[in-house]
Amino acid sequence: MGELDGRVALVTGGGRGLGAATALALAEAGADVALLGRSAATLNAVGQAIGERGRQSVSVVADVADWEQVRAAVAEIEQALGPIAMLVNNAAVVSVTGRVAEMDPAVWARDLAVNLNGPFYCARAVLGGMVKRGWGRILNVTSGAGSRPMAGAAAYSVSKAAVNFFTDILATELEGAGVIAIAVSPGMLDTDMQAGMRSIPLPDTDLFRRAHAQGWLRPAEEPAALMRWLCGPAGEDFAGQVVSVNSSAIRARVGLPDLPDGLRRP
Ligand SMILES: NC(=O)c1ccc[n+]([C@@H]2O[C@H](COP(=O)([O-])OP(=O)(O)OC[C@H]3O[C@@H](n4cnc5c(N)ncnc54)[C@H](OP(=O)(O)O)[C@@H]3O)[C@@H](O)[C@H]2O)c1
Repeated sequence: MGELDGRVALVTGGGRGLGAATALALAEAGADVALLGRSAATLNAVGQAIGERGRQSVSVVADVADWEQVRAAVAEIEQALGPIAMLVNNAAVVSVTGRVAEMDPAVWARDLAVNLNGPFYCARAVLGGMVKRGWGRILNVTSGAGSRPMAGAAAYSVSKAAVNFFTDILATELEGAGVIAIAVSPGMLDTDMQAGMRSIPLPDTDLFRRAHAQGWLRPAEEPAALMRWLCGPAGEDFAGQVVSVNSSAIRARVGLPDLPDGLRRP
């Protein structure tokens, strides 16, 4: 028996990177997993891997920044798999396009729409059912850029700071409801998002080239294992908090290897 047997998860951006790793980790723990993103091909490939693990999956093409699409996607998923018990708000975009003085307002609006409106729309669409059933997990994927300003990526940084605050508000509103909201900081991962940032020839992206050269990028399977753990009873201790995969104390509890010097946090 898996710890999450019989539960249904929705993972946004589940077709690649951290979303794909998390979807597989939840399936391995016994969950059926719905995948939402904009590319059917990548979603279907992950859906097939979930099937190979003996779990059900459904893929829905939708843009998290569009409320009507999110609402329709959740209805389709619940029709196919049953009520959503776990939501992983993972989908995000990062635009490192220059500092605020030169930033295109359309870029600002799009980053905020995907990274902040998206998690709100998805939470809004599933919360009523979770509260009615008295059990749920909402995991909002955040970033170190939500706690420390990331120059050159103002919209991303602000969106992740807002995600942290949104998580805290959810936890306050949901106290005693059996639904736990947690922000998860996944560390620097070897995904398309990192590759995209280090390919941008600006001084603000030097950090990402250095991190890559020094071998600091970690596998997405590590924060995926953390999120699987937080979907279990352990999650009850972290309502409203930002839980970092780089914390040595957390890594020890999840069973992840210790990090090299320079990445390790208390
Ligand atoms: N990589 C890192 O080092 C790092 C560090 C800190 C935090 N994070 C956070 O971790 C999460 C995952 O990052 P990642 O590195 O796995 O990113 P990624 O490789 O760029 O993947 C992003 C995912 O989001 C989906 N997505 C983007 N816009 C969407 C939209 N409008 N509607 C629906 N889906 C959308 C993409 O799928 P489609 O393109 O098919 O839509 C893709 O599956 C993000 O929240 C990110 O901010 C990452």
